[in-house]
Amino acid sequence: MNMQKYLARARELAREAGALQRAKLWQPIRIENKGAIDLVTEVDKASEALLVGGLQQTFPEHDFLAEENDYGSRGASHKWIIDPLDGTTNFAHGFPWFAVSMALEIDGEIRLGVIYHPMMDELFSAIKGEGAELNGRPLQVSPRSPLQKSLLATGFPYDCASDQENNFANFTSFQMKCRGIRRAGAAALDLAYVAAGRIDGFWECKLKPWDVAAGVLLVNEAGGRVTAHDGAPYSVYNHRIVASNGLIHAEMLAILAEGANR
Ligand code: IPD
Ligand code: CA
Ligand code: CA
Repeated sequence: MNMQKYLARARELAREAGALQRAKLWQPIRIENKGAIDLVTEVDKASEALLVGGLQQTFPEHDFLAEENDYGSRGASHKWIIDPLDGTTNFAHGFPWFAVSMALEIDGEIRLGVIYHPMMDELFSAIKGEGAELNGRPLQVSPRSPLQKSLLATGFPYDCASDQENNFANFTSFQMKCRGIRRAGAAALDLAYVAAGRIDGFWECKLKPWDVAAGVLLVNEAGGRVTAHDGAPYSVYNHRIVASNGLIHAEMLAILAEGANR
């Protein structure tokens, strides 16, 4: 199947949504609360309208799973999985670290992923079986090991104050056994950075398909490894993810297993 037409359209729309986000950052915008902590801004909604609207025009027969609206399902073979703005808390606070994330699932398999980081003008993309790239240059995960010399990334769920699955114990265990952990606030970029070799490993819990679908393909296509916390094969519909350069994966799984058995 020729994936290039999907990739070209996804890249074009990701750049358009990214330009909108760049223009609106640090401007007064409408912000609503989804929950006590969880926000949504007018820019999340406008970006989703741009992305889904644009794809619907080009590919009217496709299905859509996106964060801010329910588009139903027509049982199509092709489904776009979209986070229009990953890193909403950052965006709402004027912290310039957020991204557009788009993936295309065909017959249940993620075949294409695009992540655009507007403030760095970096466009990460991957097609299954064809490798991953950043602004046209091939991407590869880092050659770094062991865990003690590695830089990791993670995040915490919005309901971490009220739910026991809050990642706090895992965070403490990892912090004692690696070089450092970054909590930058955009899971899609954490995964893109694993693919680019800028971060050696990433884990998180309670993520949604739109947070990870594009990033998981990027990591796999850049030569990394992605599993569930127990080492089982990972699906984007499983909320517990570990992604790494492969070399530190077993060490990461061992730490997560200790946490699960505590
Ligand atoms: C969030 C970010 C964050 C992660 C949260 C996600 P949003 O997505 O990816 O890094 O820790 O769990 O919900 O709400 O900014 O699209
Ligand atoms: Ca997200
Ligand atoms: Ca989002």
